[in-house]
Amino acid sequence: MNIAREQLKDATVNQMIALGRDVLMSYNKPDATIDARLLALHVLHCNMSELLLHGNERMTEHLKESFMYMIARRAGGTPLQYITNNQEFMGLEFYVDERVLIPRQDTESLIEAIINYSKTHKLAKAVEVGVGSGCISVSLAHYIDGLILEGIDICQNALDVADKNIKKHNLQERITLLKSDVFADYDGEEESLDLIVSNPPYITFEECKGLMQEVKEFEPRKALTDEGDGLRFYREITKEGKKYLKPNGLLAYEIGYLQGKDVCAILEQEGFKDVQLIQDLAHRDRVVIGTKI
Ligand SMILES: C[S@@+](CC[C@H](N)C(=O)[O-])C[C@H]1O[C@@H](n2cnc3c(N)ncnc32)[C@H](O)[C@@H]1O
Repeated sequence: MNIAREQLKDATVNQMIALGRDVLMSYNKPDATIDARLLALHVLHCNMSELLLHGNERMTEHLKESFMYMIARRAGGTPLQYITNNQEFMGLEFYVDERVLIPRQDTESLIEAIINYSKTHKLAKAVEVGVGSGCISVSLAHYIDGLILEGIDICQNALDVADKNIKKHNLQERITLLKSDVFADYDGEEESLDLIVSNPPYITFEECKGLMQEVKEFEPRKALTDEGDGLRFYREITKEGKKYLKPNGLLAYEIGYLQGKDVCAILEQEGFKDVQLIQDLAHRDRVVIGTKI
């Protein structure tokens, strides 16, 4: 990116946003205008009405430099959320960076299904496998009174981000973390859990090749794919987790929208009852739940 210094001299906020937008458009970023605005909001620490109010004011040299640095990262493909270190999920703010998957709106269907279930069934103790940023565990602890959780992840980097989010939401008393390959190092008591929840890496090795560049290049591969048929973690968690669930304990998964039949079959083969497939807001299969007999 080669921007003439003259272009930047005396530039106002609005002019900098226009310049940022033009740079992003020249790199074929489809959301160039909104991205440039959001990066300006981030750099100026202000909201949209303040931005509109102060749009004709000059930007300091330091802020202009930070803004153009962020525009350059965005032009290079870094997802916006990794630049602003923020993603909203279930009405809560989460710190995110390249160490974790960016929380997806699709995953809110999983949280909503569990919150609904908790209205008629007491949920006191849970484990999340593949905690990542902590968005699932933190949201469940936030919305379900008294629920305590242990979040498992194989990546220490992800656990460090989850820890940051747990502290951000002041949930240290309710959520603990464990580095483990699924349940390998988990030493909880058998039949002690009311809930096991997971949004595991479910993209197949083949599908991974066709992912959008931004996802493939920037999000952690271990969070995306099981390097196989996409069902490995459903098989493992269902089989190994079963012994830790109380009778009638709930197993709840996010799934890829084409995996409904296969994941329901895995739960049924392992003897789970009341197996249900739940759709997301786009009417696509997104969640599978079942209870232990
Ligand atoms: C799809 S991400 C989900 C992250 C977060 N829970 C969310 O919903 O946004 C899957 C997570 O599983 C973790 N993971 C991958 N392999 C694992 C394994 N063998 N054992 C435990 N966690 C694993 C990844 O590091 C990643 O954080």
